[in-house]
Amino acid sequence: MALHWLMALLLSALVALGLYMTSLPDVGFDTWKIRLILYHKQIGMFALMLVTLRLVWRIGNVLPRLVETIPDWQKVIARFVHLCFYALMLALPVTGWLMSSAAGIPVSVLGLFTLPDLVSYDDRLFHTFIDVHRYLGYALIVCMTAHIGAALRHHFFLRDSTLKRMLPGPDATQAAHRSPAVRRAPSAAGPSQ
Ligand code: HEM
Repeated sequence: MALHWLMALLLSALVALGLYMTSLPDVGFDTWKIRLILYHKQIGMFALMLVTLRLVWRIGNVLPRLVETIPDWQKVIARFVHLCFYALMLALPVTGWLMSSAAGIPVSVLGLFTLPDLVSYDDRLFHTFIDVHRYLGYALIVCMTAHIGAALRHHFFLRDSTLKRMLPGPDATQAAHRSPAVRRAPSAAGPSQ
């Protein structure tokens, strides 16, 4: 639950920062824009560390089950969106890292150490990765909108415990109980985000 909300915060901040900083004009040596890009890269690498931690957690833990009353087709869609989140949470920082490598600007991790370049300097590749990173960012916005919209619909219209289970309290404790139906189900299974 803690990882979920921390990632939600980081991803929202990264998308907002990414869209804002790229909307700023390239006017000579614009230190404000450069500083924002550096913050974006640092937070993005931190997000990569957290998603790695989350994957490790997920492998080693029993998955919370989805609310029983949800129709099966909605469960499949929910699991599919969760899967897309994992793919995007990995692909976005990695394409950011690739982009920086291709630009010849190494990525520092919280100022502690510098990561090795994944590819050597290549201007054409750099522009390709910018495009890939951008479209992955747009895909993340679509997933976040669908995910948040569904959570709000469950809470306010269907009035089930989908959202409450992701907040500290008795519903969350119940959700953590083992369910034979979803215990280490195939790739489509996952925590109820
Ligand atoms: C989950 C992590 C990340 C998310 C959600 C994210 C999201 C975004 C978004 C939405 C944009 C704006 C795209 C556009 O409209 O052109 C952007 C731009 C950018 N991101 Fe990320 N990003 C992430 C991680 C990273 C990392 C780890 C790096 C580098 C190490 C990075 C480097 C950049 C750069 C350099 C740009 C500006 C590209 C340009 O000049 O157009 N990002 N990012």
